[in-house]
Amino acid sequence: MLTHRNTFTLWLLLLLHVSGSAMKFNLFGHRRNDLPHEGDVRLFGGSVSEGRVEIYHEGKWGTVCDDGWDMAEAQVVCRQLHFPRAKSVSGKTYGKATGPIWLDDMACKGTENRLSACDFKGWGLSDCTHKEDVGVICETAGTNGTVGDFTYSLDQSISLSDDLGQIFDSGNGCDFLILVQSATGNRHENETLEVVGTTVCAHKLILSQFPRFNASEGITGITVNISQSCQTYFPSFIRYLYTRKVDVTFSSVQCLHWMAYTFGVKQLMEDAGRLFTKILPEDASFYTQMSLYNYAEETGDLVLQENCVQYLAWNYQNLTMSPVWTQLSVELLGSLLVRSDLVVPDEYFLLQTVENWIIEKGDSLTLETQADLLSRIRFPMISAEALYGLESNSSLYSTHKNIYRDKLLKAFQFNILLLSNLKSNPKFDKEDADYRPRIYTAKPWSAAITLKSNRVHYDRYNQYNQIPSVSLTTPIHNSLVFKKNQISWNAAVFRTQHECSNHGLRCESFPVVRMRTYDSSPNNIVFRNRLLLMCQGKYICQVQDFKDNIAHVAKNGTHVLPYPCPDDQYLYRFVVIPEYI
Ligand SMILES: *[C@@H]1O[C@H](CO)[C@@H](O)[C@H](O)[C@H]1NC(C)=O
Ligand SMILES: *[C@@H]1O[C@H](CO)[C@@H](O)[C@H](O)[C@H]1NC(C)=O
Ligand SMILES: *[C@@H]1O[C@H](CO)[C@@H](O)[C@H](O)[C@H]1NC(C)=O
Ligand SMILES: *[C@@H]1O[C@H](CO)[C@@H](O)[C@H](O)[C@H]1NC(C)=O
Ligand SMILES: *[C@@H]1O[C@H](CO)[C@@H](O)[C@H](O)[C@H]1NC(C)=O
Ligand SMILES: *[C@@H]1O[C@H](CO)[C@@H](O)[C@H](O)[C@H]1NC(C)=O
Ligand SMILES: *[C@@H]1O[C@H](CO)[C@@H](O)[C@H](O)[C@H]1NC(C)=O
Repeated sequence: MLTHRNTFTLWLLLLLHVSGSAMKFNLFGHRRNDLPHEGDVRLFGGSVSEGRVEIYHEGKWGTVCDDGWDMAEAQVVCRQLHFPRAKSVSGKTYGKATGPIWLDDMACKGTENRLSACDFKGWGLSDCTHKEDVGVICETAGTNGTVGDFTYSLDQSISLSDDLGQIFDSGNGCDFLILVQSATGNRHENETLEVVGTTVCAHKLILSQFPRFNASEGITGITVNISQSCQTYFPSFIRYLYTRKVDVTFSSVQCLHWMAYTFGVKQLMEDAGRLFTKILPEDASFYTQMSLYNYAEETGDLVLQENCVQYLAWNYQNLTMSPVWTQLSVELLGSLLVRSDLVVPDEYFLLQTVENWIIEKGDSLTLETQADLLSRIRFPMISAEALYGLESNSSLYSTHKNIYRDKLLKAFQFNILLLSNLKSNPKFDKEDADYRPRIYTAKPWSAAITLKSNRVHYDRYNQYNQIPSVSLTTPIHNSLVFKKNQISWNAAVFRTQHECSNHGLRCESFPVVRMRTYDSSPNNIVFRNRLLLMCQGKYICQVQDFKDNIAHVAKNGTHVLPYPCPDDQYLYRFVVIPEYI
């Protein structure tokens, strides 16, 4: 169970530190004892987003001298670490460095992707001392918070929790030694890797619940390899096994998740994974979402993986405009394309983005892979106008003629034959996803209401009629035969008990959204309409169903929603989704 201590501060801080998380995900490479690569940079001795600049060269971390160091250079470092930008050059010293001074007289333009791409005197050519080492402070998601000063308590505690914690703290009677070691990346003169380590003494009785510790008869200890950045958190991880309680900070959450994964501590892994999910919205570059998806896939955390895919499905349109779009794996794009909760303007938009993606990838994709992706497009949902233009407008038509022709035929049949005819057609399978609309936000299927906040200001003259509402008219179904057969909808947002009771609604929480029609539709069509909540015009943070025309939004504060939205600044979008039954 997650307990919420000071929820508001938590969200605030989680939101502040997203870019920091992106950087930390990079660090995860090191846990597999991947050594750092030539030219990598890190911030040492400070926090996630601040510290002494160090660069890796010829197997050693070294520092940078402040001659010529300015904001342009700081920008390059921060961007190399996946922060949006530098906040300032730091005058502080972060402990005492001992390694080489690798860089001096730096001259960056500010647009370089890596610090090593800038002009400088030459590796190791410097007349500086470590007193002149530079530091930087990077900006995290456009704000100026400080890192590591919040606590989120994970608590599945058991009755003897505190007593067991004391047993661990005292070390009395401990009979299992865990040596935790990390390679720093530096090499000794004799070419062996420098390793730093600590030991933790624990009790077999406790560890034996988790087979991967090997804490069995006759074994007195193990050695664990872990990334240097995670080493600090190892004792609190072991303590958790005694108490089932741990305070999680933003810096520790990924380490705890990874340790839980490594040692098969399921509950901790799930809870930490849930914390990750909350940070998805803030990274507009989608770098964090992608890293997290890959990480989830690697660790087999299916919940986390599903959460990432769902977020990407809801925010597909922005994903296509992001820098990671062309780096998406075939598997990830494929799993997005089978989803009915994909939010897109219309199906033709989806086809175009997939075509562009395929063209962008070029020869690295086999024709089979291309065909497989294209076949996941629901052609019957594409408007008849676009279908007619497809042969001349689609850049892949000539390469994949057979697929396009089959799909077009299927789509035209769907569009022009009456349902009764379709049903008698042995090829028509109403369970076929191709006949199912996704969540289409373009006209005519959708309309929206924007509210600055959910707070209501009444004036004396207009106490009763201030319900924000919107009307829209849609065809009864996507297929062309229903084009002239229309249905009118009205959607409204009720923010207070007052507003609810004035409209004959019984509301238990707020806001409540109602979407209804007085028009009738054929028996074989049902509407599975959706409410989308878009936060601050930036990302979709919730997709909900209606039950009996009603949807209850966020019960109490943001933590009920999958994703937080500061100040509840929602745009409410209503989407009509007809389906054959
Ligand atoms: C940074 O912090 C200062 C002082 O706390 C505050 O006045 C300022 O608005 C903050 N800037 C941003 C961009 O949040
Ligand atoms: C290499 O050098 C380090 C430090 O100088 C030393 O601790 C280590 O034992 C040496 N390793 C070998 C294999 O000589
Ligand atoms: C536990 O033992 C297995 C088999 O002997 C070994 O592969 C594994 O690395 C050990 N785990 C640890 C943490 O030492
Ligand atoms: C830990 O890393 C060292 C090298 O740093 C390697 O020799 C050793 O096999 C690793 N141990 C485990 C359990 O992975
Ligand atoms: C197809 O392309 C033509 C011009 O090349 C354009 O006028 C038409 O709107 C396009 N059709 C669609 C559905 O985009
Ligand atoms: C998504 O795209 C819209 C329009 O381009 C933009 O205003 C918004 O900030 C984007 N959202 C994110 C999270 O980048
Ligand atoms: C709902 O939120 C209010 C204030 O934000 C708080 O006082 C109340 O305890 C919360 N109710 C529940 C059930 O969490």
